[in-house]
Amino acid sequence: MIAKPILKKLARKHGTPLFVVDHAQLRRNLAEFKRWLPRVQPYYAVKANPLPEIVRTLYRAGASFDVASLPEFLRVHENIQGLPAQARQDYIWDKIIYANPIKAPETLVALDQYKPLVTYDNLEEIRKVRKYAPQAGLLLRLKVPNTGAMVELSSKFGAAPGEAVDLIAAAQQAGLTVAGLRFHVGSQTTNFQNYVQALHLAAGIFKEARSRGFTQMKQLDIGGGFPAPYDANVQPLRELAKLLKTEIRRLFPKDVAVLAEPGRFLVATACASVAQVIGKADRDGKRCYYINDGVYHTYSGIIFDHCKYPVRAFRQGPTRMSAVFGPTCDALDTLSLTEELPDLNLGDLVYSQNIGAYSHASSTHFNGFPPAQVVHINL
Ligand SMILES: Cc1ncc(COP(=O)(O)O)c(C=O)c1O
Repeated sequence: MIAKPILKKLARKHGTPLFVVDHAQLRRNLAEFKRWLPRVQPYYAVKANPLPEIVRTLYRAGASFDVASLPEFLRVHENIQGLPAQARQDYIWDKIIYANPIKAPETLVALDQYKPLVTYDNLEEIRKVRKYAPQAGLLLRLKVPNTGAMVELSSKFGAAPGEAVDLIAAAQQAGLTVAGLRFHVGSQTTNFQNYVQALHLAAGIFKEARSRGFTQMKQLDIGGGFPAPYDANVQPLRELAKLLKTEIRRLFPKDVAVLAEPGRFLVATACASVAQVIGKADRDGKRCYYINDGVYHTYSGIIFDHCKYPVRAFRQGPTRMSAVFGPTCDALDTLSLTEELPDLNLGDLVYSQNIGAYSHASSTHFNGFPPAQVVHINL
């Protein structure tokens, strides 16, 4: 969390709406992940927040990367452009995963020269990869339970466990190499049993695949889902890590490399937003505040990420139940109808913490309002 006085000072200096990124917190989050899960190589899911400064800080701190579009791939690639050719190639193979199971032919053509590791989950994709990116390696994405996750990710992608080994065989027959399996248990997964079930499914498939001779299967990618501490009910990473370590040790041979794709966990707590009250009205007995950031902008995660970001005031005083709206003309631009806020004046500042993931990344220019200005601290 970024300290309140710092947020206030930055807003005074730079104006609002403001999106503040604390790079020291990014580094701490990565270090925490590595501390509790030393066997798991973290690939930052760039989609959570693709700001180039964030990618650079995590690159320098030793993260690997999960990208899901060509622009995301190129954003990571910017950091390795200066490396000698072989080191660059090794980096791409060892530290970047193209984790979108569906890739346009032109994306595959552009990616092929980099010999990337890409994910797939169906026969058509095998044909496409073979035709347009024959140098790519493959990870098979499995469909696993996403029960209780804040953001469900299993309805769009994932091979059914029953067809998994046949899909591995089909890719190998097509001359491609399947290096392993991956899954995603759903974003902001507080039901840790999702991971346990997914690991069991993956272990069964690994075993069967290896027994059918697919001994090149050496990677297990446990995806994202690691919950950010949005509230006190979220169990800390160390609790999930204990469970993961036990299950992974029990279910997978030592020669299996384990990777993960944390997005939210690395970036959510590293960013805060500051906005200003630009309007105030009492409607149907309720105090309504209008601020200069909203759901088409930094608060877009309310819609796309099903996330809630409490809006807090710097001003102190007795509070009342208030509604908070964004600056656009759309009624959808509602941040909250139940926010406990003191009596605020026009020009007062408000802020939200833990708003780094799936927020600024999906900010739009709707209604002529640009995304919030970004300020970096502890770069
Ligand atoms: C393929 C893939 N990997 C990783 C992530 C990151 O997940 P999280 O932010 O829950 O860690 C996502 C999120 O949508 C994803 O789709």
